[in-house]
Amino acid sequence: MKAAVVTKYGGPEVIKIIEVEKPTPKPNEVLVRIRAFGVTSGDVRIRSAKFPKGFSVPARLALGISAPRKKILGSEFSGVIEAVGSNVKGFKIGDEVIGIRVFNIYAEYVVVDVDNAILHKPKNLSFEEAAGIPFGASTALYFLNKANISAGQSILVNGASGAVGSNAVQIATAMGANVIGVCSSNNTEFVKRLGATEVIDYKQVSLKDLATKFDVVFDTVGNLKFAEYKHLLNPNGIFLQAVATFGELFAKKDHEDGKKFLTGTAPEKKEDLQVIVDLVEAGKLKPSIDKVFEFKDISQAHEYVETGRKKGSVVVRIA
Ligand SMILES: NC(=O)c1ccc[n+]([C@@H]2O[C@H](COP(=O)([O-])OP(=O)(O)OC[C@H]3O[C@@H](n4cnc5c(N)ncnc54)[C@H](OP(=O)(O)O)[C@@H]3O)[C@@H](O)[C@H]2O)c1
Repeated sequence: MKAAVVTKYGGPEVIKIIEVEKPTPKPNEVLVRIRAFGVTSGDVRIRSAKFPKGFSVPARLALGISAPRKKILGSEFSGVIEAVGSNVKGFKIGDEVIGIRVFNIYAEYVVVDVDNAILHKPKNLSFEEAAGIPFGASTALYFLNKANISAGQSILVNGASGAVGSNAVQIATAMGANVIGVCSSNNTEFVKRLGATEVIDYKQVSLKDLATKFDVVFDTVGNLKFAEYKHLLNPNGIFLQAVATFGELFAKKDHEDGKKFLTGTAPEKKEDLQVIVDLVEAGKLKPSIDKVFEFKDISQAHEYVETGRKKGSVVVRIA
């Protein structure tokens, strides 16, 4: 089968499409013929080895010193089941699926344990749309759950037009929160359509000077520091940080003034994917696909994602 591999850290040009062995499913696995996958900010971080402050050494120790140990990157995908292991229940050959797992996705086929995050694809989504939702939505859900968002709360989403942000705006709205998005002026209308009641253009308004207060601030960009922006929080407010430095992972959670700083790494969980699929099927969560690339153009997809300017998700289609 064809797979896109990364044999050393570097620019988008290090990605090469080569022939590799097609995997065979173990008893609890299905073989998925991939129809589309997302190229995410996470994939770009791994390929380029550009990690948040303090993560360079731990990330290289975990992922590989001069090249990723697992050469086939990727996480979110959609496709069709082509073979099932002997113990598999609930999936059969021909089923259309959606899933998220880290690595081995930039390929024509992947094997996935059915106890992991794989489900039937929502019928109201195309393969391209389905492939562009799990990464941003599961991250957004993980953080919103951490903050225990409840109806009527106010939440400021910084980076509201990105993959994590665009899902956070919709999921928080579905939870009944009042969402205020922060993005550039190009994306104001897009973020309003996602459900934000108000949109702040960060080039016009400095959040440092903003007098409004929120129950939750969700920074999906990584440019807001808790200490400098906690004035944006109501008493007992929660600051969610999707892009923490290594030091911030161990930072104090509870502060004397009752405010909280929460960060972490979103896991790939079947239960979370189920919540996402349910929201999609209920029409409360829609994928935002910025661009679709062909498999042969995967380096261009990486180049585009690396600009940090994408609107929602970028997807690669495999014919
Ligand atoms: N902790 C976790 O488990 C976890 C999981 C997934 C992702 N992440 C991290 O979360 C971050 C965001 O991921 P993503 O996939 O959503 O990225 P993305 O899709 O590339 O989104 C970037 C967005 O940031 C916006 N932006 C750039 N500069 C900004 C600024 N100064 N103020 C406000 N918005 C700004 C851009 O909007 P404009 O073009 O409008 O500026 C763009 O839409 C990445 O660093 C990723 O590594 C963390």
